[in-house]
Amino acid sequence: MDRIRIVGGRELNGVIPISGAKNAALPLMIASLLTPETLTLENVPDLADVNRLLRILGNHGVDHMVEGRRFGDSPDASRTIRLSARDIVDTTAPYELVSKMRASFWVVAPLLARMGEAKVSLPGGCAIGTRPVDLLIMALEKLGAKVEIEAGYVHATASRGLRGAEIEFPKVTVGGTHTAMMAAATAQGATRILNAAREPEVVDLAACLNKMGAKISGAGRSEIEIEGVGRLNGARHRVLPDRIEAGTYAIAAAMAGGDVLLAGAEAGALQNALDALVAAGAQVAVSNEGVRVKRNGAGLSPVDVETAPFPGFPTDLQAQFMALMTRAKGDSRITETIFENRFMHVQELARLGARIRLEGDVALVEGVERLEGAPVMATDLRASVSLVIAALAAEGETMVNRVYHLDRGFERLEAKLSGCGAVIERLSS
Ligand code: EPZ
Repeated sequence: MDRIRIVGGRELNGVIPISGAKNAALPLMIASLLTPETLTLENVPDLADVNRLLRILGNHGVDHMVEGRRFGDSPDASRTIRLSARDIVDTTAPYELVSKMRASFWVVAPLLARMGEAKVSLPGGCAIGTRPVDLLIMALEKLGAKVEIEAGYVHATASRGLRGAEIEFPKVTVGGTHTAMMAAATAQGATRILNAAREPEVVDLAACLNKMGAKISGAGRSEIEIEGVGRLNGARHRVLPDRIEAGTYAIAAAMAGGDVLLAGAEAGALQNALDALVAAGAQVAVSNEGVRVKRNGAGLSPVDVETAPFPGFPTDLQAQFMALMTRAKGDSRITETIFENRFMHVQELARLGARIRLEGDVALVEGVERLEGAPVMATDLRASVSLVIAALAAEGETMVNRVYHLDRGFERLEAKLSGCGAVIERLSS
C-alpha cells in the first residue's frame, strides 16, 4: 500500500489548479443511464471513485470513452469522458460494487425511470456514520415506485412508469435530491421537491439534465419544480470546479502560510468556509482567475464553526478546518451536525500533538504552539487530507498511511502541493 511522506515547515507559494468536482461528476455520470444517446462530460477528475463508477456503469451496459490528452497538454488539462447507455443490459447493482462506493446506490433512480425496475444493494454503513437511504426510497415511492427490501437489496419497480408527485424531505439530503431529480425528469406530470438540497452539485446536475431535455427549475433553492418529459437526449456538459478541493487547499495555505492562487475556484460555492478563514487570520482575494489565499507570519485566531447543508459550513471541510484550529492561539468549537461519526481524524491529529476533546457532536480544540510529525492513518478521504494539512505545519516527518482514501477524492495531491513548495512525496510499496 502506498504512503505519503511529508516534511512540515515549508510555506506554500504558487498556483494550484482546481479539478472538476468529484461530487458533481459522480451523479452526472449516473445520469448517463437516463438516455440511449451519448452524454459527454468535460472536466472529469481522474480519481479512484470516478474510475470505479465507470466500472459499475459498465456493468449496466454503459460504454465509455475517455478522450486522451493531446501532446503537450499539461497534466492538469481536464479529462473528457463520453458515456453511452444505448442498451441497459443489467438493472442489478450488486453488493460487491455498491458497498465500495455509496454514491453508486443512486443508479437506482435512472434505472427505475428508464427500465421500470432496479435492484440495488443497500450501501450499508461507512466510516462517517450509518448513512441510511430511507429518504431516497421515500422519494421513489412518492413517484409511484413499489419498493421492497429483500436480502439486503432495494428492489424498486414501476411497471407503468413513474408519476410526478410532491416530495418533501424531512431533512436536507444531497443524494435524495439527486435521486428525486433523476427519477422525476421523465415521470408523467409535474414534481415538486420541498426542502431540497441547495448544494452547487445539485445545481450542476439540474443544469446537465436540462441540457438533456429535462424541464427542471429552482435548483439551488429549497423548492425544485420538474415538468416530466417523455425522453432525454444526449448532451455535452462541463463538471463544475471542486469546492471541497479548493477549500482544502485554501485551508492548507492558511495553515502553512504563504500565498496560493486556487486557479479556477469559485468563491461563491465556498463563501462560508472563506469567511471562516478570514476570521482565522488569512487574507482572501477573489478574481476572475480564482481565489487567492495568503497568510504572512501572523498567528491564527480561533474560530468556531458548525457544519450545515449549503450554504452553511460544509461537513466535507470540517476535518480540514479542525486541523487548522489545532494551531490557533486559543480554543475553538467545531460542531458536526450532518454525520454522527465524522470525528475519526481526532485521534490521529492527537498523534501529531493536537489537543482535542470530544463532547457528543462537538470537538473542543485547544490550540497548541507546535505539532510534531508522526505516522498516522485515516478512515475516510476528508479525514486523510486533514492529516496532510496538519503535517504541513508539523515539525519533522509525517507518514500518512492508507493513501487510497486520498486517491478517492484528490487528484494529483502530491504534485499540486509540491508544486507550491511543500516537501511531500508518495512512497510506493
Ligand atoms: C453527499 O453525500 C456527499 N457525497 C458527501 O460527501 C457529503 O458529505 C454529503 O453529501 C453532505 O454534504 C457525494 O456527493 C458523493 P446526504 P450524501 O444524503 O448525499 C442523512 C465526501 O467526503 N440521510 O446529504 O450521501 C444522512 O445520514 C462525501 O465527498 C438520511 O437520514 O449525503 C446525513 O446525516 C462524504 N436518510 C444527512 O442525511 C437518507 O435516506 C445528509 O446526507 C439519506 C440521508
